[in-house]
Amino acid sequence: MTTDLVVRPARLSGSIRVPGDKSIAHRALLLAAIARGESRIRGLPQGEDVAATLGVIQGLGVAVMDGGSEKIVEGRGFAGLLQPGAPLDCGNSGTTIRLAAGLAAGRPFETVLTAGEQLSRRPMDRILAPLARMGARVESRDGKPPLRIHGGKLRGIEYELPVASAQVKSCLLLAGLAAEGTTSVTEPSPTRDHTERLLAAMGASIETLARTIRVRAPGAALSGLDMDVPGDFSSAAFFLAAALVAGEGEIRALGVGTNSTRTGFLKILARMGATVEVARPGTSGGEPVADLVARPAALVGAEISGELVPLAIDELPLVAVLGAFARGRTILRDAAELRVKESDRIEGVVAGLAAMGARIEERPDGFEVEGPCELRGTTVDAGGDHRIAMSLAIAALAARGETVIRGADSVAKSYPTFFADLERLRA
Ligand code: S3P
Repeated sequence: MTTDLVVRPARLSGSIRVPGDKSIAHRALLLAAIARGESRIRGLPQGEDVAATLGVIQGLGVAVMDGGSEKIVEGRGFAGLLQPGAPLDCGNSGTTIRLAAGLAAGRPFETVLTAGEQLSRRPMDRILAPLARMGARVESRDGKPPLRIHGGKLRGIEYELPVASAQVKSCLLLAGLAAEGTTSVTEPSPTRDHTERLLAAMGASIETLARTIRVRAPGAALSGLDMDVPGDFSSAAFFLAAALVAGEGEIRALGVGTNSTRTGFLKILARMGATVEVARPGTSGGEPVADLVARPAALVGAEISGELVPLAIDELPLVAVLGAFARGRTILRDAAELRVKESDRIEGVVAGLAAMGARIEERPDGFEVEGPCELRGTTVDAGGDHRIAMSLAIAALAARGETVIRGADSVAKSYPTFFADLERLRA
C-alpha cells in the first residue's frame, strides 16, 4: 500500500535537528558486531534501512540491547558471528546487503541475504565479481538478490573499482578484515569514507594513500565504539534547499555531519549562487559536524559533472529541483549511477518536475533543466523512492497550488518524520 500526501505552498523558517546519518549508522552497527566488547551508539536514525541492519546483526547471533537513547551492541569478535538459523532480510537497504555480504563472506558458514521487492531489482554483480576473486562463493539470482553466501577462507586482492561506490568499497574492506594478506581497493574518484574512519578508530590496520585504501586482518580484536551519530547531511539537504526556494528568513540544521566526502552539494550550491553558513563546527563519532544555515538566494544554473558527482550522489535529485528555480541552464552529467538507486532517479525526478511544468529533459547520464520555471502543483509519483518523494515535496513548497505526492510513505526508509518536520517549519 502507498500513501498519497498533499503538500501546499509555504514559506519555511526555523531550526531543525534531522535524524542520525544512515550511512554511518549501518557501519557503526556492523563494525560493533565484530568488535570485542560493548559498543554504545547514540543517535541512530529510526528508518527502515537501519532497522534492517540491526536485524541482520542480531540474526548473526549478536546481542543488541536498548539502552533508552542508545543501542548497546555486545560484540564477541569476528569469530563471534554465528551461522544464522534463517535467511536475513535486508529489506530495501542496499547498504545493508552489500556490506553484510562482505562480512558474511569471511565466516565459515552459509548466510542467505534476502531483499524486498525494490532491492531485488538492484545490481549485486558489482560486489559478486570482486568477492569471487577473493575466493568467496556466492549464489545470486542472475546478479540480483537474494544472495546465498558460502563463506570461508578469503585471500586479499588488489581491486580497481569500475564505478565510484562506497558500498562496494566498504563491502571489500569488510571482507578484507577476514582475508589472508592485504586487500587493496582503488577508487576512480573519492566516495564517502565513513568505513575507513570507523575502522581506524577501532584499531584496524587500514591506510589510505591517494585513491587506494589498504586493509589487513587486524592483529588484535577491534575495540568497541562509544559514539554519537552525527545528523544526516543527506536529510539536512532537503531543508537547505527549502530555505533557498521557499525560505522566509533562515533555516538552521543542527549538528549535521560535514565530512567533505559527503558535502559536494554545498559546492554545487556555491556554484549556483547560494552560500550555506557553516556554524559551530565540532566533531562527533570521529566525523566533523556543524550547524548549517541557509537563506533564500537568487540561484543561477550550473554544470555538474566528474568528481563532484559521487560526493553529492544522494542530493542530485534536489539539484534538478533547484535548477528549475535557477536562472539559466543546469546540466548534470556523469551520473548514470542514479538509474540504479532505489528507483531510476533521473527518470523519477525529471517526470515529477516536468509534470509540475519545469522545462527539464533526461540525458542518459543526467538531466538538463532550463530555469526559472513557474511550477504548478499537480499529482506526482515518488516511484517508491524516499529521496524523490522529499525532493518533489521541496519543489511543491514553491509551486503554485497544491501537489499530491503518490507514495509519500517511502520516506520511512530514511526519515519517517520528514513531513511532520516540514510542517513545523511553516512560517
Ligand atoms: C551509500 C553509498 C551510496 C549512496 C547510498 C549510501 C553508503 O551508494 O547512494 O545512499 O552508505 O555507502 P553507492 O555506493 O552505490 O554509490
